[in-house]
Amino acid sequence: MRRLLLCQALCFFLLKASAHTVELNNMFGQIQSPGYPDSYPSDSEVTWNITVPEGFRIKLYFMHFNLESSYLCEYDYVKVETEDQVLATFCGRETTDTEQTPGQEVVLSPGSYMSITFRSDFSNEERFTGFDAHYTAVDVDECKEREDEELSCDHYCHNYIGGYYCSCRFGYILHTDNRTCRVECSDNLFTQRTGIITSPDFPNPYPKSSECFYVIELEEGFMINLQFEDIFDIEDHPEVPCPYDYIKIKAGPDVLGPFCGEKAPEPISTQSHSIQILFRSDNSGENRGWRLSYRATGNECPELQPPVHGKIEPLQAKYSFKDQVLVSCDTGYRVLKDNVEMDTFQIECLKDGTWNNKIPTCKIVDCGVPAELEHGVVTFSTRNNLTVYKSEMRYSCQQPYYKMLPNISGIYTCSAKGSWMNKEMGRSLPTCLPVCGLPKFSRRSLARIFNGHPAQEGTSPWIAMLTDPNGQPFCGGSLLGSDWIVTAAHCLHQLLDSDDSTLHSSDMLRPSDFKIILGKHSRVRSDKNEQHLRVKRITLHPQYNPSTFENDVALVELLESPVLNNYVMPICLPEEPQQEGAMVIVSGWGKQFLQRLPETLMEIEIPIVDHNTCQEAYASLKKKVSKDMICAGEKEGGKDACSGDSGGPMVTLDTERGHWYLVGTVSWGEDCGKKERYGVYSYIYHNKDWIQRVTRVRN
Ligand code: ARG
Repeated sequence: MRRLLLCQALCFFLLKASAHTVELNNMFGQIQSPGYPDSYPSDSEVTWNITVPEGFRIKLYFMHFNLESSYLCEYDYVKVETEDQVLATFCGRETTDTEQTPGQEVVLSPGSYMSITFRSDFSNEERFTGFDAHYTAVDVDECKEREDEELSCDHYCHNYIGGYYCSCRFGYILHTDNRTCRVECSDNLFTQRTGIITSPDFPNPYPKSSECFYVIELEEGFMINLQFEDIFDIEDHPEVPCPYDYIKIKAGPDVLGPFCGEKAPEPISTQSHSIQILFRSDNSGENRGWRLSYRATGNECPELQPPVHGKIEPLQAKYSFKDQVLVSCDTGYRVLKDNVEMDTFQIECLKDGTWNNKIPTCKIVDCGVPAELEHGVVTFSTRNNLTVYKSEMRYSCQQPYYKMLPNISGIYTCSAKGSWMNKEMGRSLPTCLPVCGLPKFSRRSLARIFNGHPAQEGTSPWIAMLTDPNGQPFCGGSLLGSDWIVTAAHCLHQLLDSDDSTLHSSDMLRPSDFKIILGKHSRVRSDKNEQHLRVKRITLHPQYNPSTFENDVALVELLESPVLNNYVMPICLPEEPQQEGAMVIVSGWGKQFLQRLPETLMEIEIPIVDHNTCQEAYASLKKKVSKDMICAGEKEGGKDACSGDSGGPMVTLDTERGHWYLVGTVSWGEDCGKKERYGVYSYIYHNKDWIQRVTRVRN
């Protein structure tokens, strides 16, 4: 309308008056009324069209202004306008109620174009000098002065002379409209069974010009439920459904939405395990977005009953697809599945609502039959010889011939781990050691016996007879532990050349050359308790000297162990050095002094003789009594060992400990039973370390 009126007026003047138009394109300039500074002519009209580059506006100000005044500036005037708007109309010399002069006022164009028209009417009653005005192009600060919301920057605005540009906050991308800030949000994959998805920046307004894509992808068998929570605010339109921003949900073949507005959609139960969500925003609006929580459900599996003596974890009222249950058993029980024992067993709810396996059973731990203990017996404390968890059994050694080492209760309990456990020893077993030096039978007084006398059966159960293959006894020995005989080294070889002090292996007895008989009493007749044993190995003392009889001791390992009983029992090793004067018993099947061999085992009781006394006794015979020898016998002689007794035991009773121990083995002497000629024995205490090293026997 206005444009049309303006045109009518202009057209009128253009037709009527001498009008002309000046085009101005400079960044600044001067405009003056015609004839300035003289008075302007009547009936004239001049228009200046000022155009400056885009991004600039035009500032116009007057240095001089003197025009005819008329009501509403009907006659003469200066009019400032844009294409479609009159910015000001000036006339007169000073501003009144109805008319306006520019004075100090500056006229600013809204855009880069301004048109100024000067017009005078046909008559002038006085002289008017007109006007002198200047214009300059000024920069538009688009960042501050954009009244058009649609064109302003979304996040940041940067002004420069003649223009401006936009930029975005961190995490945003400038849209191709160079104005709005969008986000990259097309790559969102959710694979958890529950989750929360929100619009970008929620609950702050979501970005403009964005297309967000979210995928929930679960295993087949799940059904995803969706629920909008909290704020829901998506730009909408009163009439058109969601024309600007919206959220659309694709669940399997179904498409839900578009949704927008301020009212959240109702909870959605989809039947799908795969959901795609599209959220789109246009380039305007400040809405806060949405928050969506999802939860996957699956088919329910039937209730579970924990096994007897077991439990299931986690224990829930309901289990559904993918839920896993761990079955374990109480202490002392093991999971049994398909005849295989294990610690735990896991079962899982399948998508069809069944469990992938049956609940296994719990089987009580069984320690099994306890390991055999050599020379030991097992007794169960529980009825039926139960070997299951918590059952108790006891190891004991065959009494009275064996004793337990270490000295423990021997009670073992079946542990939850399936092994027999002892309080002190854990899983280790004790050992049953032969009892030494404790004969069942004790001898009647020996005091009244003179030249030795027959031994009572069973009073020296450790004595061993060494016989040749024909059964002829040639030496004695003593049982050590259950596998060793200690005897004299000189019993186990023949010294062919007595001048030669070196031992030749050809002179040595081989294991098959002799036999050991235990439980023996008679010399030649057989005894009901005798046990014949074969030899496995012979070990002579490494420092044995055949010419001096130094270290005249040897160890014979048996091929088989004897049965220990009242007639067969080992002798103990000495704990301490031997006291002189102590009474010892020497036994053997050796020669009587009348050169006769005895019917049965003979024994004598004699005192240990001081070492120096013994040395002196043999000094005249140039025989050395060394540290490894010990002498026994009475000064007046009479009682002595003799030929055939070699290797046999010289024992004494340890009154403190109550057992008999081996003091020495018969070794040598000058003749038998002669006055001041003592019997010389290999001193066991002296070589105890070597004996124990070889035999591993301990008391
Ligand atoms: N060497 C003798 C033997 O082979 C034993 C000698 C013991 N003599 C003695 N008088 N104590 O049997």
